[in-house]
Amino acid sequence: RVVVLDFGGQYNQLIARRIRELGVYSELVPYHVTAEELARMKPKGIVFSGGPASVYAEDAPACDPAIYELGIPILGICYGMQLISARFGARVDRAGKREYGKAELEVVSDSPLFRGLGTSLTVWMSHSDAVVEPPPGFRVDGRTSSAPVAAMSDPERGLFAVQFHPEVKHTEQGDEILRRFLYDVCGCAGGWTAESFIEDAVKEIRESVGEKRVLCALSGGVDSSVTAVLIHRAIGDQLTCVFVDHGLLRKGEAESVMRTFRDHFHMNVIQVDARERFLSKLAGVTDPEQKRKIIGNEFIRVFEEEAEKLGDHHFLGQGTLYTDIIESGTATAQTIKSHHNVGGLPEEMKMELIEPLKTLFKDEVRRVGEQLGLPREIVWRQPFPGPGLGIRVIGEVTEEKLAIVRESDAILREEIARAGLDREIWQYFTVLPDFRSVGVMGDARTYAYTVGIRAVTSVDGMTADWARIPYDVLERIANRIVGEVEGVNRVVYDITSKPPATIEWE
Ligand code: XMP
Repeated sequence: RVVVLDFGGQYNQLIARRIRELGVYSELVPYHVTAEELARMKPKGIVFSGGPASVYAEDAPACDPAIYELGIPILGICYGMQLISARFGARVDRAGKREYGKAELEVVSDSPLFRGLGTSLTVWMSHSDAVVEPPPGFRVDGRTSSAPVAAMSDPERGLFAVQFHPEVKHTEQGDEILRRFLYDVCGCAGGWTAESFIEDAVKEIRESVGEKRVLCALSGGVDSSVTAVLIHRAIGDQLTCVFVDHGLLRKGEAESVMRTFRDHFHMNVIQVDARERFLSKLAGVTDPEQKRKIIGNEFIRVFEEEAEKLGDHHFLGQGTLYTDIIESGTATAQTIKSHHNVGGLPEEMKMELIEPLKTLFKDEVRRVGEQLGLPREIVWRQPFPGPGLGIRVIGEVTEEKLAIVRESDAILREEIARAGLDREIWQYFTVLPDFRSVGVMGDARTYAYTVGIRAVTSVDGMTADWARIPYDVLERIANRIVGEVEGVNRVVYDITSKPPATIEWE
C-alpha cells in the first residue's frame, strides 16, 4: 500500500483515488501521523499531499521528521514539495503571487518519474511560494517559466517532489508520473481489485470477530447492504441485521429488502415494524430540523431496544465510507441540514465498531457490491436520505400525505426507468408541498395537493443541476400522477440548481 499524508489540499482525495485506479491500495492519513504509526502500516511509498498553507507560516502543518528516516520513498506534491524543500534547506522565493492553472513543464533530467514521457509536458499548477534552488543533494528534474524548480529529486534517498499536481486530469501524463512512482520507484505489486479487497476484508473480519456476534443496521442502501453481505460472508450466522421500517420508506422497499437479504442471501434479518411509533412522534411537527432530529433519535432508540432484546452482541457493523470520515474530519462548515444516517449510531452503545468499507470510495463500494452478487437495483440505487419520505412531505407528516408521495414517487421511478434515464439522472423523487390549489376534473372543481418533481444530475450531491428530462417524459409523469394518485390535481417541476437550493426540500 501507499499512504498519502493529508495536508489539507483540495485534491487530496483525488491522489488516493488515482493511486487506487492505478491498481495500488492507498489511504489518506492525517499529516501528524507519527513515523512509528506510519511504519506499522508498512507502506511501500509515501505521498505528501498539497495543502493551503505556506510552509513558512507560523502554524504550518509539518510531518514527523523521523518519517524521512524510514527509508520509504516519498513523493511530495505541491505543499509536499515545499515541505521537503524547507526540511532540507532549499532556497525559496516567497513570491506571494499565486500561480494557478496550466504551465509547460520542461523535463531536464532522466528522473525515473519522467523517463520516456518526452521533454515537455502540460501540467497543472497551483502555488505561491517557489523553490528557486533545490536543497543540497537534490537535482532539478523540471522547470516552468515561473518555477525554476518545478520538479526535483534525490533518488538515492528516495525523495521526489513536484510543484504541479499529477493527480488532476489537466496534467498531461499525470497518471504515468504517478505510475512510475508507484511501480518503478516504490516497487508496488499492483493488482488491487474488488476481489482482492473482499478476500482481505473477509479475513480481517474473521480475525477480529472470532466467535463473537455482530449486529448491523440494514437500510437497503448501498453502503449498509454491502457491509452486511461482506460481514455475512465472513462470519455467516454470527451476524444479525436489524431493518427498521419507520414508515417513511418508498413503495415496495421493505418487501424488496427482506426478499434480497432474507430469501436470497439467507441472512438473519429482523424486521422491526416501527411505523406507528414514528408517525406518532412526528404528529404536529412541522419544522424540518426538528423532524430530522426526531427521526434520527427515534431510529437510534428502536435500534437500541432491538440490540437490548438480542443481547450479547459485541460488535456493531457500520457502512462508514472513506468520504464520511474525511468529511466529518475536516468539517468546519455550517450545518445546513442535520443528516441522519442509518450508520450514525451512538457511541454509548458500548459495542466495538466494525467498518469494513471505511477505506473505500462510493464507486469502489459499488464494485465490491457487484462482486458480492448484490442485485443491480441495490448496487446502483439512487441516494435515499435516512429520514426518508419524512422530509419529502413538507410540513406535518401524515399517513395520507405519505401515501401521496409514495405513489407519485413510484410512478416517477417507473417512467424514468422506462425512458432509460435512471443511470443518467443522479437522484429523482417527488415531494409534497404543504398546500392545495384549485383544479378542474370531469367538469367539477377540485381543491387538492400539488406534487413537485425533483430530479438532479450530480457527482457527489454537494452541487447539483436540475435534470433536463424531455418534455414528453415529464408530460407522461404529470398525467399519470394526477390521474392515478388520489388527492393530487397539479404537478410542478423544480428547476433550481444546488446551490442556491438543496436537493431535498427539507
Ligand atoms: P441536500 O438536500 O442537502 O442533499 O442537497 C444532498 C444529498 O444528501 C442526501 N441527504 C441525506 N442523506 N441522511 C442521508 O443519508 C440525511 O439525513 C440526508 N439528507 C439529505 C440527499 O438525498 C442528497 O442525495
